[in-house]
Amino acid sequence: MTQPATTIAVALTRMTTDPWLRAFREGFAAIGLPVDVLPFTGTALRARFAIVWLPPEDLFKVERDLQVVFNLGAGVEGLLAMPGLPAQLPVVRLVDAGMAPKMAEYVCFHLARLTRGLDRFGGAQGTPDWNVDRPRGAPPTVGVMGLGAIGSVIAQAAVRFDYPVVGWSRTPRAIEGVRAYAGAAGLDEFLAATRILVDALPLTSDTANLLDRARLQRLPRGAHLINVGRGGTIVDDDLLAALDAGELGSAVLDVFRTEPLPENHPFWRHPRVTVTPHLSGPTPRRPAVRQIVDAIVRLQHGERVQDLPGWVDRARGY
Ligand code: GLV
Repeated sequence: MTQPATTIAVALTRMTTDPWLRAFREGFAAIGLPVDVLPFTGTALRARFAIVWLPPEDLFKVERDLQVVFNLGAGVEGLLAMPGLPAQLPVVRLVDAGMAPKMAEYVCFHLARLTRGLDRFGGAQGTPDWNVDRPRGAPPTVGVMGLGAIGSVIAQAAVRFDYPVVGWSRTPRAIEGVRAYAGAAGLDEFLAATRILVDALPLTSDTANLLDRARLQRLPRGAHLINVGRGGTIVDDDLLAALDAGELGSAVLDVFRTEPLPENHPFWRHPRVTVTPHLSGPTPRRPAVRQIVDAIVRLQHGERVQDLPGWVDRARGY
């Protein structure tokens, strides 16, 4: 007897649905799992699983049989904040899934730009001086906040390029070559040791507004900031004030409390802010599909959702 197909609803905004539908259908077909992967368009599909990115609010009203929702990204704060998300519905997020190396590349590009003064070259600013200063001293210490699947890869990449690296996380983490600090008790010391701060934090009730003026002032004067985590971990006005007061040298921001970043936001035009439109870690299709297909196979084999990589502890927020 053939098994009835399991229905999976795909509900994505700010991502194009069709290529994902194709990729998931191919992913399930490749392992011979009978699955119907269908776009959610507002009418009930009686789906058992949903694959979502910032889904429409009515998804959870309409799909009443959902057993697990898969977030097609690493950050779940948007999904968890949805009032319609049933309290008991398990959420599973992507863990690295190919994002981490791309984010490490993005960060290392900015490390090279900042530490070697690469902005002096190219385009209208191009300098004809062959004998410009080359940095020959000790490289500045890079401090990575958030040492999970993404932050740890960023920290390791900076180690590979010979930067002294310190790291900060909620609970202690050991990463080779990284001097690690943890918890509230370690934060001031971590910041004081950091010249280039890389924010790779998830947004949770613990990390919201964590980097306010007082904390930014713990950094050595002229330190730089690169934010690839979440905009809500930094207080925008405090960041602008720290830049204007010369406490911070510059900021590279890829994530914002409101996305898209509103056109009139001062970050767009600030001379010492580089804005990129949340592109440091695009979700690569193949590893993302593989991770979700594997998870569904494991569930079909009776594994507990809590044992899957990326199961979200709703109390912890990630
Ligand atoms: C991107 O920001 C993600 O959360 O995957």
